[in-house]
Amino acid sequence: MRVQIIFLKTIRQKLSFMYICVCKGVTERDIREAVRQGAVRMRDLRSCLGVTGQCGTCACYAKSALDKALLQELPQQTVVSPS
Ligand code: FES
Repeated sequence: MRVQIIFLKTIRQKLSFMYICVCKGVTERDIREAVRQGAVRMRDLRSCLGVTGQCGTCACYAKSALDKALLQELPQQTVVSPS
C-alpha cells in the first residue's frame, strides 16, 4: 500500500513537470504558478511565459492547462476565461 502511494506521488510530480510549450520550456507547473500570480487568459500566459510565441503548436495544450489551473487554483471564484 505504501509503495503504491509513493508511486502515485512520483507519477503526479512527473505530470506536473510535463512540458506544455517546448519552444519556451513552459511546464504545466509554470502555468499553475502564473494563474496563482493572476493570469486568467491566454494572452496573460503569452505575456508572462511566452507561450505560443514561436511555433504556436502548444496553443490548445496551453489553453487546456490554463483552464485546469483556473479550476484548481481559483475554485472559490467565478472565472470567465475568454478564448
Ligand atoms: S511549443 Fe509553444 S510556441 Fe512552440
